[in-house]
Amino acid sequence: MNNFIFQNSTKVYFGKGCVKEYLSCLTKDAGIVMLAYGGGSVKRNGVYDEVMDILQSTGKTVVEFSGIMANPTYAKVMEGARIARESDADMILAVGGGSVMDCCKAVSLAARYDGDIWNDFWAQPGVIETEPLPLGVIVTAAGTGSECNGGAVITNEELRVKTGRDYPKLNPRFALLDPVYTYSVPASQMVSGGFDILSHIMETYFSGPDEDNVSDDIMEALMRGVIRDLRAAVRNPMDYTARSNLMWESTMAENRVIKMGKRCDFECHNMEHQLGAYTDCNHGCGLAVLHPVYYRHIYREGLSKFVRFAENVWGIPRGGKTDEQLALAGIDALAAFIAELGLPATLKELGAKYDDLENIANSCGISQGSYKKMTHEEIFDIFKECYE
Ligand code: NZQ
Ligand code: ZN
Repeated sequence: MNNFIFQNSTKVYFGKGCVKEYLSCLTKDAGIVMLAYGGGSVKRNGVYDEVMDILQSTGKTVVEFSGIMANPTYAKVMEGARIARESDADMILAVGGGSVMDCCKAVSLAARYDGDIWNDFWAQPGVIETEPLPLGVIVTAAGTGSECNGGAVITNEELRVKTGRDYPKLNPRFALLDPVYTYSVPASQMVSGGFDILSHIMETYFSGPDEDNVSDDIMEALMRGVIRDLRAAVRNPMDYTARSNLMWESTMAENRVIKMGKRCDFECHNMEHQLGAYTDCNHGCGLAVLHPVYYRHIYREGLSKFVRFAENVWGIPRGGKTDEQLALAGIDALAAFIAELGLPATLKELGAKYDDLENIANSCGISQGSYKKMTHEEIFDIFKECYE
């Protein structure tokens, strides 16, 4: 194993009924709670009422911050920061999926920071001395794993940049994960969120070092689990076993555990984020289009890992296959799984314009941890291959 430092400061409460059981205790020190949510699913599925009842029965002043969109914008972050300041909120309670959680992490920092938070935080690495406003999250959709990391992926519409980084101070103080809350997630979002989980694991797995290590072993088990549980949840969305496994697999993929000792790739995420900045496409759908094509570009540089993937994740027998044939069979199995889930296979389906592809490619970050370091020209080639 390579050297590492591990810490995760978020306290997780997992399971059926956890919001009813723990929320009042977790908010006991806050007089004014800023309740943040997205486009209204929480009102339709009863989660809003359940949370509001608890906050009101414990005497909180509740200030609402609603309408957080998928792929949250910097303008929305600044709106939330203004509400948090003007209401003098003691804490933010984010109820939703990755977009709501990410937006609220960004708000928690922007509300307490006096400078230009885009230039000083999103546009460059480095430390911000400001302590963010305390944040707690109630997760309603499995996918990003945002509940247990410091990542806040924000779209700056003016600059056409979608970006984020894992900043430990932005880890939520607590995360409440009730798998029953995810039952109402539409099938298309359940599947794209599920693919996002798989993507996070693959982006970590397909990077050095390749000698025996605990992180790769855990990841193979997690990938097999995500594939099994997504299939079961597609068959029966109310399958508690499947939904609860997916919820924890989502957290496990992004709570830093599997990244220990790994270089990590995340080039597909770099590409998808910029596609999102230009098209506002669904995150998991963008990843589904890119992964198989990207892997066909890089597998030769990481051949032994792609062979392991085929054998240990997809159960493909060696037969008489060469390493190269086996590696490609694993990538084909991934592409077949994407098709089985009904996820898109082309950038055209995501709404990308062919004429924009070169600019999008040129705006993508280049990963330092990938098996094969991309160039903007090769990313442009990948986009063209994915187009239709
Ligand atoms: O807005 P509402 O009405 O709540 O509806 C949402 C939204 O339309 C709906 N939804 C969520 N929970 C639901 C539900 N509908 C019914 N019942 C429920 N229980 O689902 C739709 C999508 O929600 P969203 O939060 O946008 O999805 P997701 O969780 O996939 O988050 C995507 C965002 O997270 C970023 C992505 O780039 C994207 O901006 N990411 C964040 C990461 C992180 N912080 O670590 C890592 C990821 O790689 C990713 O980049
Ligand atoms: Zn992702």
